Amino acid sequence: MIEVVVCTNRDGSNSKKIAENIVKKFAASNTDARLLELSSIDWSELNSNQYGEEARSKSMSDLIKRIDEASGLYMVVPEYNGSYPGVVKTFIDYWSYPKSFEKRPVCFLGLGGIFGGLRPVEHLQQVFGYRNAFVFPERVFLRDVWSIIDEAGEVKDPVLKDLINVQVKNFITFIKSLEDSKLHANSNNTLN
Ligand SMILES: Cc1cc2nc3c(=O)[nH]c(=O)nc-3n(C[C@H](O)[C@H](O)[C@H](O)COP(=O)(O)O)c2cc1C
Repeated sequence: MIEVVVCTNRDGSNSKKIAENIVKKFAASNTDARLLELSSIDWSELNSNQYGEEARSKSMSDLIKRIDEASGLYMVVPEYNGSYPGVVKTFIDYWSYPKSFEKRPVCFLGLGGIFGGLRPVEHLQQVFGYRNAFVFPERVFLRDVWSIIDEAGEVKDPVLKDLINVQVKNFITFIKSLEDSKLHANSNNTLN
């Protein structure tokens, strides 16, 4: 199962619309994918004692279990103040180490204003690279996002739309190649 992560908890988020559309694209390629929403975390439950599996709140541990079992992570990342939203880093800091990250395939779509979410994606790539995830090199950036998507989260421009379709298909192939060669995070025979 690919987890399509909405990298914000903002109400009315464009990232969520886009992520919903990405889930449909995976389904069209006969690949299981679903939304993973940071808005389902009960942030009021979190406290400084929860950095460790035993102490996690239920809403947090439910999502981390999904991360730990995911065949791939597709991160839909908006730009907030020149980087990715703080809630994403807080979420990541509660993940299982090394299981959540190590050899887990991860793909990025950035969105924002003039720079199209380049900075949040590159900042997040550093985190995943540091933690030995398998970072898929094809990235997509949506600039002036508010004017280029429709209500269903689909980009109106056919060239950009095609770029996303190709990225989704190639990410599926990337995951399968890692699974076939037993290099995937979920393989019994990993090099962990
Ligand atoms: C708190 C906040 C900070 C933002 N900072 C930036 C920024 O630094 N650069 C930029 O290009 N866009 C910035 N934006 C615009 C967002 O990237 C854009 O509105 C995008 O749709 C946000 O994703 P969301 O709709 O999923 O929340 C910011 C938006 C918010 C809400």
